[in-house]
Amino acid sequence: MKTNNIYIETYGCQMNLADTELVLGILTNKGYSVTDDISDANVILLNTCSVRDNAEQKIYNRLDHLKGIKRENPEAVIGILGCMAERLRKSLVEEKKIVDVVVGPDEYRRLPEYLDIAFGGEKGIGVKLSRTETYDDIIPYREDGLSAWISVMRGCDKFCTFCVVPFTRGRERSRALESIAAEIKQISGRGFREVTLLGQNVNSYLDNGNDFADLLAASAVVDRSIRIRFTTSHPQDLSDKLLYTIAEHPNICNYIHLPVQSGSNRVLELMNRTYTIEHYLNLIEKARKIIPGVSFSTDIISGFPTETFEDHILTLDVMQQVRYDGAFMFKYSPREGTKAYNMKDDVPEEVKTKRLNEIIDLQHSISFEINQAQIGTEEIILVEGFSKKSDQFLSGRTDTNKIVIIPRSEEIKSGDYVKVKINRATSATLFGELVEKMEPHSLSANIA
Ligand code: 5AD
Ligand code: SF4
Repeated sequence: MKTNNIYIETYGCQMNLADTELVLGILTNKGYSVTDDISDANVILLNTCSVRDNAEQKIYNRLDHLKGIKRENPEAVIGILGCMAERLRKSLVEEKKIVDVVVGPDEYRRLPEYLDIAFGGEKGIGVKLSRTETYDDIIPYREDGLSAWISVMRGCDKFCTFCVVPFTRGRERSRALESIAAEIKQISGRGFREVTLLGQNVNSYLDNGNDFADLLAASAVVDRSIRIRFTTSHPQDLSDKLLYTIAEHPNICNYIHLPVQSGSNRVLELMNRTYTIEHYLNLIEKARKIIPGVSFSTDIISGFPTETFEDHILTLDVMQQVRYDGAFMFKYSPREGTKAYNMKDDVPEEVKTKRLNEIIDLQHSISFEINQAQIGTEEIILVEGFSKKSDQFLSGRTDTNKIVIIPRSEEIKSGDYVKVKINRATSATLFGELVEKMEPHSLSANIA
């Protein structure tokens, strides 16, 4: 075991992946090195998620497993970062004796101090939330690659009644536009070809009078051969200006993740989602007019308190009306401290499961039909590397975030934009053949 060697595992959302890069940026700046071999590390960190109970159970199981490592290697410091650190604080240290460090999402800057406390034999605990911390000046630790995440705002002020995020990540605050643009410039110089701007609710971004549409436009012009993606949007705040900005800039991807959560206005109100299904469907229609070919994905929860069979049918209805390209679908999980926690979790487990399965089956058939309709069309993809299944095939993604597999070819490498013809499709993947390689500067001319 080397000293000052960190091993980190990341769970949960893309925000956590971006935070892990921040944490590693902070620690490598203090002389730590990064290892992907746990037995070689004297600092073992888990960056955790609290959004559903099963996410937390996964971490508890992992901690039980780490007990063995701690026994063999009592000098190792074990730390919990992220939302669970914030939510469970001291109880983690008291119940799980092997945990030495607990640091929440707004205290990463001081992580080196908390590690020093742990090396000294005490527990290092930092769980204060901040109204201002955006880690604006921290350079994240990024391995070379094609896709980078940049968190542009932190926290959430929406307080959906099911969601623990406003409690674990605190109030909304935005990072400066200039520093985001500078970071895109820097990663463009390193050969990255795609940037995803992240926030719990990116549409609330505000910096010095610049809103999220301004940020997207400023990001898009840094390097026209870099694709700009973003997530997550709240249906209440998605402005016309944003839609026009997406339409106007060819390198802003025509793909919007727009969580609907439920198709029932009654349930949406109980969830404090602050929009109606009519507003939501209007928004989708408007987006499709302004951005031809735009694709949508969503999040759906089954079995929220009081959800009736009729409410569930309304959710299936809205899925059929929108015809999402993809969806993340979950069973409702009560989270202590949230408003919904005080409502009775009255939909029986087997009903939640049955409804969730119906939602998943419907989404599969919609995705399959949408993908079948792509057969015979031409698409431009960004080649990301070999396909997961075979190095005889390459994998890339369309502007609309669909995975396309094509046969390997000597003239194509990762990071190339290529035009492909789609000749087969499943519900999850498109298969195609090479038509021609595109020049990077032609991205704007051809993806319109
Ligand atoms: N139970 C189930 N799903 C949840 N989500 C957030 N909180 C809960 C919960 N308590 C889902 C929402 C959100 C996504 C990130 O996770 O659909 O959009
Ligand atoms: Fe949670 Fe709602 Fe905020 Fe999303 S918008 S992070 S679901 S509170």
